[in-house]
Amino acid sequence: MKRLLTNIGILGGVETQSRLRVQGAEMAEFSVVSDAYLCIEDGRITAFGPMSELSIETENPEEIIDLHGRCVFPSWCDPHTHIVYAGSREGEFVDKIRGLSYEEIARRGGGILNSADLLHTMSEDDLYKQAYCRAEEVMRKGTGCIEIKSGYGLNLHDELKMLRVIRRLRDNLPMRVVSTFLGAHAVGRQYSHEEYVRLIIEEMIPEVGRQQLADYIDVFCDKGFFTPKETAEMLETGAKWGMRPKIHAEELAASGGVRVGVDHNALSVDHLESMDVAGIEVLRGSETMPTVLPGTSFFLNMPWAPARKMIEAGLGIAVASDYNPGSTPSGDMKFVVSLACIKLRLLPEEALNAATLNSAYAMGLSADYGSIAVGKVANFFVTPPIPSLAFIPYAYTTPLIEQVWLRGECV
Ligand code: NIG
Ligand code: FE
Repeated sequence: MKRLLTNIGILGGVETQSRLRVQGAEMAEFSVVSDAYLCIEDGRITAFGPMSELSIETENPEEIIDLHGRCVFPSWCDPHTHIVYAGSREGEFVDKIRGLSYEEIARRGGGILNSADLLHTMSEDDLYKQAYCRAEEVMRKGTGCIEIKSGYGLNLHDELKMLRVIRRLRDNLPMRVVSTFLGAHAVGRQYSHEEYVRLIIEEMIPEVGRQQLADYIDVFCDKGFFTPKETAEMLETGAKWGMRPKIHAEELAASGGVRVGVDHNALSVDHLESMDVAGIEVLRGSETMPTVLPGTSFFLNMPWAPARKMIEAGLGIAVASDYNPGSTPSGDMKFVVSLACIKLRLLPEEALNAATLNSAYAMGLSADYGSIAVGKVANFFVTPPIPSLAFIPYAYTTPLIEQVWLRGECV
């Protein structure tokens, strides 16, 4: 089916030569065409440009959709979420208001372990239904590609259960879903730390690999969780099973996560709220995308990742929601873009690149997603007529996502 969208007020995130990521000063370039058309066929973008250059005879569409000045942007790509979880943890939210820190809650056996207890008793179907609702909500908010992690199972049986739920979401949603094995999120209650690390390396990774349930491997490499040495061993085992690293690094301390990630050719290192300048130097010249999660700093009242410093050092950055029950129960990428501008001091263009092209890169999808380019999958959202790009992060609670198009269909 060939469709032509006409009279687009602003067509944002266009690329004539498509790139896999943008870095440093390029991050401030988010190209637009004003008064534009967009042609899509069989789920892919086939042409775009100014209305003045449109020849309907050449395009010969089966359907013409007049957008009357509405604007079109590439769908958000969210490269770090934990949306498969059971129940909720608003009790800890109140504990934090009363003064407990995220680490104290974890030390008292709460946090991730609370979610693991709830997940253990929930059926696979109910887990799927809860996760499906969250996925559907973020899709309506404009997310077109999403990474989802395991990590609330913390034993072989429940980690596999989570990964099967992620596979079912992938098979049933029009969003593009990628899957990450995060057995090393915390130590399961029935194991000692050492026992659990051996279980991950000797049983969990091989079984996940044999069943091909994960594209990537993650480790919570941080103070109080897993050390860089343990992380290295887990990542090396993951690599043998074809899982490239995307790791949690330097959220709670500058504890060596960036170094171990880059040394193992991680696709991304995520969080970085406690990263120092040494970490920036390690990332320079690497293939690893630093991915920052401003929703987590907001929700936990934690330091903000040094995003501005990274861009000024020539790095590209991505943003993600980190949607999870403990440190940020929201997957609203438009709000993440606003936080990136307001709190990380990114320009609107930089924040939009961080939430589209660079975040597609951070899940290995930027050849096919993350911008409006000929040949890419037709994933985009439509907003009402807006005065400029900057209006998107500026209008920080206005629901601007009016229509969602995925794989060339309005969903
Ligand atoms: O990315 N930092 C580690 N893991 C999650 C939080 C998980 C939870 O608290 O349930 C995060 O913030
Ligand atoms: Fe996370």
